[in-house]
Amino acid sequence: MKKIIVTGALGQIGSELIVRLREIYGADNVMATDIRKVDSPVTENGPFELLDVMDKERMFKLAKDFGADTMMHMAALLSATAEAKPLLAWNLNMGGLMNALETSRELGLQFFTPSSIGAFGPSTPKENTPQDTLQRPTTMYGVNKVAGELLCDYYFHKFGVDTRGVRFPGLISYVTAPGGGTTDYAVDIYYKALEEGKYTSYIAEGTYMDMMYMPDALQAIIDLMEADASKLEHRNAFNVTAMSFEPEQIAASIRKHIPTFELSYEVDPVRQTIADSWPDAIDATTAKNEWGFKAQYDLDAMTADMLEKLARK
Ligand code: SER
Repeated sequence: MKKIIVTGALGQIGSELIVRLREIYGADNVMATDIRKVDSPVTENGPFELLDVMDKERMFKLAKDFGADTMMHMAALLSATAEAKPLLAWNLNMGGLMNALETSRELGLQFFTPSSIGAFGPSTPKENTPQDTLQRPTTMYGVNKVAGELLCDYYFHKFGVDTRGVRFPGLISYVTAPGGGTTDYAVDIYYKALEEGKYTSYIAEGTYMDMMYMPDALQAIIDLMEADASKLEHRNAFNVTAMSFEPEQIAASIRKHIPTFELSYEVDPVRQTIADSWPDAIDATTAKNEWGFKAQYDLDAMTADMLEKLARK
């Protein structure tokens, strides 16, 4: 991993991943691409190009001219948006992925793309969800993620592309807000806690989902990409998680800093149905064993850091 091209670089993960990759591998060696351009460290502190991931020709040309040896394909619609616009989600999530995989095959690039806890469905075991288990998701996002995992397996076995991936849980960060995800409440709640001292959750009490703080997510990507290829038995995507909680637990964690914080509920049936179809807590043992995955932040450590950083912001 020496020259890296990243799609969706202004998204929730990309905007922090770019900064971290440039610190490690050098600003000139990380090309950020996105369908839009805004003023940010991503577009200002290193190479940046406009790229619609549906444009295969331009993707190939940018990667080739840059001399990339690695592709990180981050551009995708999240679960709630995909549910609202299923056809667009299929075209963009699958079309973009195919273009990125084909570019990687043609140029011999190492490849990373995130899968998600959304790749599981109601028939998946809810607790300690194993690495290899039933995957029959009931959302368009989940269908995209399962198909994507299978394609990563396929490109590895058929063409020898060095594909790697993780199934991310809900990702929480203070830099770029997620958009259109089911787990977004666990980000919004921190903003509202500081701004208004209260939050109305669209996810119901008692709904457990896996979560992870962004620094751990970035480290997981880098550790997996740097891992010894001969140790990796899974080429689709690894279960990774740092914590599992329901809304009352994140509220309790916030109250350790803001004792008067109030949580109420106004459940959104669409996102609740999605959340109910996902596991409560996945098992990341395989990621630990194959490449040493480890998360540093638990709920309270994350809350302390989120509130401190957001307050400064
Ligand atoms: N955070 C994502 C979502 O809620 C899950 O991959 O859509």
